[in-house]
Amino acid sequence: MTQHTVTVGTTTVPCGPDQTVLDALLRGGVWMPNSCNQGTCGTCKIRVRSGSVEHNASPEDTLPQTERADGFALACQATVCADTVVEPPAGEQTTATHVLRDLVATVTEVRDIARDTRRVLLTLDAPLEFSAGQYVEVTVPGTDVRRQYSLANPPSEPKLLELHVRRRPGGVASDGWIFGAVSVGDRVDVTGPFGDFTFDAESTGPMVLLAGGTGLAPMKSIVRHALALDPHRAITVYHGVRTAEDLYDVALLREWEGQHPGLRLVTCLSRATGGDREGYATDAFVEDVASAKEYTGYICGSEAFVDSAVKAFKRRRMSPRRIRREKFTSAA
Ligand code: FAD
Ligand code: FES
Repeated sequence: MTQHTVTVGTTTVPCGPDQTVLDALLRGGVWMPNSCNQGTCGTCKIRVRSGSVEHNASPEDTLPQTERADGFALACQATVCADTVVEPPAGEQTTATHVLRDLVATVTEVRDIARDTRRVLLTLDAPLEFSAGQYVEVTVPGTDVRRQYSLANPPSEPKLLELHVRRRPGGVASDGWIFGAVSVGDRVDVTGPFGDFTFDAESTGPMVLLAGGTGLAPMKSIVRHALALDPHRAITVYHGVRTAEDLYDVALLREWEGQHPGLRLVTCLSRATGGDREGYATDAFVEDVASAKEYTGYICGSEAFVDSAVKAFKRRRMSPRRIRREKFTSAA
C-alpha cells in the first residue's frame, strides 16, 4: 500500500498505511501532546487542514460525529489516506521531544512488593531517552497485545525500565503474564517513550504529588529527577491505597526523606488504620494545604482517583496549568 506523509507546521514526516498520525509524528521527532494512546483522553485531538484520515477505533465519546465533521481527529487512532496536513492542539509544549523508538529488553527481576503488585525490572539492549514521568508500551511476549506501563526509574538510568504492575483479574498482561508466565530472561518488545505526564522543568515552587496505587511509579521517577536537580526542593508525596498491605517502597521513600529535608511522604489508607492518615489521599491534601497557589501538582492513578484529585487541587486554588495528570485507563 502507498506510503503518505503528515505535515505539522513546516515539518513533514512519512506515514505508513497502518501507522497512526501520532506514531508517525513521534517517530519523526515532532512533538505532539499525547497521554493514553488508547483514544480515551482526547489529549491528542488534532485538526485536519487538508488531506484525509481514517478514524479507525476512535471512540464516539472522545471524538463525536460533530467534531469529525468539523475536521477533528485523534492522532493516536487516525491513519492517513492521502498526504495530510494537521494542526496540533492549542497550548505550549510541556515535554521535551524524545524520538519514539522500538527497543528490545530482557526481564531481569520480578518481585512481589505489595498485595497484587509486582515490580518488574527490564534491561534494554540500547538506552532510551525519556522524561521523568513518561511511560512505555510493552508487548506481551507471544502476542500482539500492547499495554502501557509508567517508568519508575529516572532518565539518568536510560537502560533500565522499572515497572510497578497491579494485577487485574483476568487481565492479559498483568494477570496472564506478569502474575503468570513471566520469567527472568524473557525478551520483550518495548516502544516508547510516550506521554505528557512529566516533571515541569519550569517550576521552582513546592511540588505536591498524589498517587493512587501503582500511580506511585511515575512519581518515583519525578521525585528522583527533581531531587537530583535540587536536593532541597519542597516535595510532598501522598500515596493513597486501601490497606497497609497495598503500600510499597515506604522504607525507600523514608530513606529519601532522611536525605532530603524538603521531602515528605504521607501514606493514606482508605479502609484501614496504620498509615500516616486514615481516609483518602485527596482529603489529606485538602486538610493539610490551605492554599496551593504556589504549588505544582502531579496526579496519577485510576480515572476516579485523578478526577477527585484535580477537584481537590482546584479547591485549594492551584492554577490549572500547574496541574499534570495521568490516568491509568484500560485498553480492554
Ligand atoms: P486487560 O486484559 O486489559 O483487562 C482485563 C480486565 O480488567 C477487563 O475487564 C478490564 O476492563 C479490567 N481493567 C483493566 N485495566 C483496568 C483499569 N486500569 N481499571 C479498571 N479496570 C481495568 N498499570 C499499572 O499497573 N502500572 C502502571 O504503571 C500503569 N501505567 C499506565 C500508564 C498509562 C498511560 C495507561 C493508559 C495505563 C497504565 N496502566 C498501568 C494500566 C495498564 O496499561 C493496563 O491497562 C493494566 O495493567 C491492565 O492490563 P491487562 O492486560 O492486565 O488487563
Ligand atoms: Fe489520543 Fe489519549 S486520545 S492520546
